[in-house]
Amino acid sequence: MMAGQLLKEARLFEENEDKRIRQKDRPAFHLSSRAGWMNDPNGFSYYGGKYHLFYQYHPFEKRHGLMYWAHAVSDDLLHWEYLPAALAPDEEYDRAGCFSGSAVEMPDGRHLLMYTGVQAVMDEGGMPRVLQTQCLAVGDGVDYEKYEGNPVLDGGDLPEDASCCDFRDPKIWRKPDGTYRSVVGNRPGDGSGQILLFMSPDGFHWSFQKVFARNRNRFGRMWECPDFFELDGKGVLLVSPQQMFPGCEYSGTLCLIGAYDLATDDFAEENDQAVDCGLDFYAPQTALLPDGRRVMIGWMQSWETCGGHRGDLDWFGQMTLPRELSVRNGRLCQKPVRELEKLRRGRTEYRDVVFDGELNLAGIRGRKTDMELEIAPADGEKAYREFAVRFAANEMCRTSVSFRPEGSVLKVDRGYPGSGKMVVHQRCCRVNSDNGKLKLRIVLDWYSVEVFVNDGEQALTAVFYTDRSADGISFFADGTVKMNVVKYELAE
Ligand code: FRU
Repeated sequence: MMAGQLLKEARLFEENEDKRIRQKDRPAFHLSSRAGWMNDPNGFSYYGGKYHLFYQYHPFEKRHGLMYWAHAVSDDLLHWEYLPAALAPDEEYDRAGCFSGSAVEMPDGRHLLMYTGVQAVMDEGGMPRVLQTQCLAVGDGVDYEKYEGNPVLDGGDLPEDASCCDFRDPKIWRKPDGTYRSVVGNRPGDGSGQILLFMSPDGFHWSFQKVFARNRNRFGRMWECPDFFELDGKGVLLVSPQQMFPGCEYSGTLCLIGAYDLATDDFAEENDQAVDCGLDFYAPQTALLPDGRRVMIGWMQSWETCGGHRGDLDWFGQMTLPRELSVRNGRLCQKPVRELEKLRRGRTEYRDVVFDGELNLAGIRGRKTDMELEIAPADGEKAYREFAVRFAANEMCRTSVSFRPEGSVLKVDRGYPGSGKMVVHQRCCRVNSDNGKLKLRIVLDWYSVEVFVNDGEQALTAVFYTDRSADGISFFADGTVKMNVVKYELAE
């Protein structure tokens, strides 16, 4: 397999950049862009004995530009080894970018990628517009060759009323009977979003099956990056809406849970929820691991907040921790993959700490930590007004997670990162709390915080680029709080 000229150039460029970027300027256990810019995770899959993760990639600059697919592999989902970029926009049908897509292993052992090819064209009136089609590439886990029959889905395959400009991000899977399905994001005539379902007997020949889900202008507009899977007896559809309306709980990615009929591929929505209530989470993709776990990785960023990056870091973009999913009481729950526990070192524990006001605890500090907190009112009857944990802190900076029992609102706030740049800096959500009792697990890496509430009922994620030396962690209570803390250092 011969890499084309564009791909060769990108591979050379990223290799040199990677040598230049110091490991200590990267997150410790979150995947960051090998060079330049990263957005959506793509092609997350287990193949050839390793986890593979591709991503949307513009290696040459720290901004979204002409899209390539970058590639990394891992044995533990936490430490990633970069492989050479996998796709370059070097064909007529993808000349304006290789957009998001997914991967699956074929029965003959080949790795099949399905992605969106973007083309810039002129319409009849001479106006420029884009055309989006679905394309394939087949490979061995390192090198991928685009299929000669590309594109395999274009405007001619779409139902009436469906846009061929907004037609992207195929998520492919194999059904138990060996046939393939793919859900693709699309915009119908009402300007809203819809998810289309396509089928294929062999992975190469595709046809439209049905409209799988419709937004009908309920949650934002166009729905990007769909993912669909069965979990704990339910069908789960993840979509990332564009132009999401402002609101407390719904921000980045939406999860629709419902009944799924394997024989007819009918999906009947029952519940909806936000996947992550923090500031930086978008376009997640899941993979089914060989041990049966359904694991999700998201782009740890949101389009609205891209301006907050630090100029002196020579990479842009991180992925979230991989998260194990489950459905409990009709809701999606998520926890960091259990592999993270293997990185735990140096346990520090305090039980039944009763305090009101500021609190520092010996041994509780750090920027790469995994911390479990249980809080409750000290006096079972009388609720406190506010609890907060502050981290990445020094005299100038801090990021915090705070909780007010009244209204049951949890908030993440990175308003003091040490740079004047952040515009959107806080987000809140309502959480379940019985009279001020709350369980939080807070995972910090150098440039991010991920909060898991009540054993994974909800998650809040935010990136921050505070100087690495700011490693203070402290607690605050307005009213008397009783707290248990267990904290671990996390190894690189
Ligand atoms: C989502 C998205 C996708 C698209 C990709 C382009 O973040 O807009 O819909 O495929 O990014 O990089």
